[in-house]
Amino acid sequence: MRSFIAWVGGKSLLAEAIVKKFPQHRCYVEVFGGAGWVLFKKEQAKVEVYNDLNGDLVNLFRIVKRRPAELKERMSLALYSRETYYEFLNAEYKHLDEVDLAARFYCLIKTAFGSNPDGHGFGYSKTQPARTLWNDELISKVQARLKRVYIENNPFQKILKAYDSPETLFYCDPPYYLPGQKFYQHDFKEDDHVALREALGKVKGKWILSYNDSPQIRKLYRGFKLRKTATIRYTMNNKREAPRQKSEILISNF
Ligand SMILES: C[S@@+](CC[C@H](N)C(=O)[O-])C[C@H]1O[C@@H](n2cnc3c(N)ncnc32)[C@H](O)[C@@H]1O
Repeated sequence: MRSFIAWVGGKSLLAEAIVKKFPQHRCYVEVFGGAGWVLFKKEQAKVEVYNDLNGDLVNLFRIVKRRPAELKERMSLALYSRETYYEFLNAEYKHLDEVDLAARFYCLIKTAFGSNPDGHGFGYSKTQPARTLWNDELISKVQARLKRVYIENNPFQKILKAYDSPETLFYCDPPYYLPGQKFYQHDFKEDDHVALREALGKVKGKWILSYNDSPQIRKLYRGFKLRKTATIRYTMNNKREAPRQKSEILISNF
């Protein structure tokens, strides 16, 4: 099945190829969850974990899992429009309850350029129709799929420690190694890339990482198994410096 949202750096086009590389496991952990494209594509394991540091995103996942009917009701008032986008973007929202917070964030993702909720503008196109804000069938499937999934909101170090075991498989899809560029609510700096490598070095279970192909990452993970994926088209942003066609690399300790 597919995710219910698009997300910057989301693995919608690579999920199937990534899942094919997975070894047997009892506990599956998606450390940098985002839209969860890989989780939704894979077979259910006995224990599963979705984690992301972005609290708004994690709240949305929790509300889709626990209170989808209330979310639907609040979403039903929203229109796919430029006005709705700016209204949600500029709204005072700290005081909202968790369902309204989820509705606001969901609407922002759905109406934003590049599905990026961080204020990059309203999403419209001369070649694509307006997106659907709510899809009953898909949300029901997502709710059922998440029923037995732990949903966590923690930095990767904590999750790698908490769920590690010889039968655990960690899928890590950290922010790309692109120094000076910020794509998410939380910065992921040079030190974080190094800290991830160090933390993975201590893991007893299996892990697989996806990254943009860069000499620094190849150097950092020298000695581990490295494969190139098929070429995909990035839709990260519309800036000239962003690569349009590239393959990524998959690195694993198995
Ligand atoms: C490349 S995206 C993951 C995309 C996901 N695989 C998908 O298919 O949609 C990276 C994610 O890592 C999250 N993130 C950033 N820093 C983090 C940290 N220190 N610990 C955990 N998650 C983090 C971001 O919020 C973002 O959602």
